[in-house]
Amino acid sequence: MNEPNNSSQPSRREFIKTTGKMAAVSALAGLTVPHVHGAEGNTINVALIGCGGRGTGAAENALSVKSAPLKLVAMADVFEHKLNGSYRGIKNSRVGSKVDVPDERKFIGFDAYQKAIDCLRPGDIAIFTSPLAFRWVHFAYAIEKKVHVFMEKPLTADGPTSRRLIQLAKEADAANLKVGVGLMSRHSKPMQELHKRIEDGEIGDIILMRGYRMHGPVGSFASTPKPDGMSDLMWQISRFHSFLWASGGSYSDFLIHHVDHCCWMKNGWPVKAQGLGGRHYKESPEGQPYVDQNFDTYSVEYVFDDGARFIMDGRCMTGCNDIYSSYAQGTKGSAIIARHGDIGTPSMTFKGHKQGRQDLIWQSTDTSNPYQNEWDALVEAILSNTPYNEVERGVYSSLVTSMGRVAAHSGQEITFEDMLNSEHEYAPGVDKLTMDSPSPLPADERGHYPQPKPGLLGKREY
Ligand SMILES: NC(=O)c1ccc[n+]([C@@H]2O[C@H](COP(=O)([O-])OP(=O)(O)OC[C@H]3O[C@@H](n4cnc5c(N)ncnc54)[C@H](O)[C@@H]3O)[C@@H](O)[C@H]2O)c1
Repeated sequence: MNEPNNSSQPSRREFIKTTGKMAAVSALAGLTVPHVHGAEGNTINVALIGCGGRGTGAAENALSVKSAPLKLVAMADVFEHKLNGSYRGIKNSRVGSKVDVPDERKFIGFDAYQKAIDCLRPGDIAIFTSPLAFRWVHFAYAIEKKVHVFMEKPLTADGPTSRRLIQLAKEADAANLKVGVGLMSRHSKPMQELHKRIEDGEIGDIILMRGYRMHGPVGSFASTPKPDGMSDLMWQISRFHSFLWASGGSYSDFLIHHVDHCCWMKNGWPVKAQGLGGRHYKESPEGQPYVDQNFDTYSVEYVFDDGARFIMDGRCMTGCNDIYSSYAQGTKGSAIIARHGDIGTPSMTFKGHKQGRQDLIWQSTDTSNPYQNEWDALVEAILSNTPYNEVERGVYSSLVTSMGRVAAHSGQEITFEDMLNSEHEYAPGVDKLTMDSPSPLPADERGHYPQPKPGLLGKREY
C-alpha cells in the first residue's frame, strides 16, 4: 500500500484545499509526505496497534475528528480475541462506516505492528495502545515509515527506555512527524484555563499539591498465579497492570494523570521523591497468593526545586474511603484541579484553603471531551503542518511517576536524575519477543515473581 516518497511536500491542509493539483505547494524539504492518492487521496488512514479498551476508544476518537476524513484500515494485537472484540466494537459504533479492516489487514503477533504500519502511507497515523513496554519499539518503526503517531500514557517505566524515547522524539521531529500522547489532562479546557489563572497569580505561588486515586482494585491490579496452558509472557501481558516491566504497575498506570497535571500546574518537574506503601492483602478471598508486583497503598512526597511539595496517594482496596481528585494550594488561595477522576470537572479556584462556596473565585463551564480534543489537536497539527510532539513531556511525566514508584518500592529517596540515568532496563530485548519467548520477568519454582522489598535492594525495585 505504500506510495513512493515525494520530496516536495505541501501541508496536509493545503493539499486538501487543492485536491487534484498534484504538485502545488512547496514545503519544507525532507519532511513528511502527504497523500497523493486517487479518489481517497485526502483521507488519513489509521492503524490501531493494541486493540483493548483504550485502543478501541482512541480509534473511535480518531474517526470522530471532523476536520479531515479518517479511516481505520489496519489492526494489530497479540491476542486474536482482543482484536476481534475491538473490531466489533468500533464497527458497531457510530463511526463504524469509517472502518475498512478486512481480515487480511488484521494482524496477530509481536510483529503485527509492523504489518499494520506497512498498510499505511507516509503521513497516515498509527495508534499505540498496547502496554507501555512496546512503545519505543513501535515508535521507532513508525518513524522509519514516516507515519504520525498517537501513543497512550505512560510511555516508559525505567531510565534506559526513557532516554531512548527522548532520542526517538528528536528523530520524529527531524522527520516532521506529529506525535500525540494520551495525557489528556493537557487537552482539558478547564485545566488549560486553570493553568492560565494560576500563572496569572490567582492563587499566589503554589506551595503544596495533592493527588488522590484511591478506590477498589481495578484492571489487572492484583494477580494470583498463572493458570496452566498460558506462557508467562502472554499471561503477564494480558495482566500488564500487575507487572512493572509491562506497565510500571498500578502506580505508573493509574496515577500518571494526576502526576502530569499537577506538574503542569506547577510549571516544573520535581527534583526528588520519597515514599512509602505496602502489601496489606497477600491472598485473594479464595486463599490464592497474590503474585503481582504492586503495593496496595502508596503515599509519595515529591519536592520541587523551590521546596514546594506534591503528595500523591494511591490505594486499591475495597471498603475504604474512596477519594479520586487533585488540588493545588497557593500562597493566596487554592484550586481544585480534577474534581473527580483524572479530569472530572469543574475545575475551581478559591480564596484561602477551605474551598467553601463563599470563597469561590472561578468555576469552569466547558464540558468538551479531552479525549476528543487531543485528537482534534493532533489532526489540526497534521493539516496545518505545525510542529507537534508531546513525547518528551510524556516521558518526563512517566519518569516523575516512576521516580515516585521506585521511591516507595525501594524505601529510598530517588532524584529525577537517579531515575533518568538509571541503567536498570526492565524488559531488554522486548523488540525481539515472539509468542514462544520467555518473559522478561521469570517466575520462581512456586510461580511467584520478585516483589519490591523496601530497604533491602538499595535503589532497585526488585
Ligand atoms: N489516557 C487514559 O485515560 C487511558 C485509559 C485507559 C488506558 N490507557 C492506556 O492505554 C494502554 C492500554 O490500556 P487498556 O486499558 O486499553 O488495556 P487492554 O488490555 O484493554 O488493551 C491493551 C491491548 O494491547 C494488546 N497488546 C499487548 N502487547 C501488544 C503488542 N506487543 N502488540 C500489539 N498489541 C499488544 C493487548 O493484547 C490488549 O488487547 C495502557 O498504556 C493504559 O495505561 C490510557
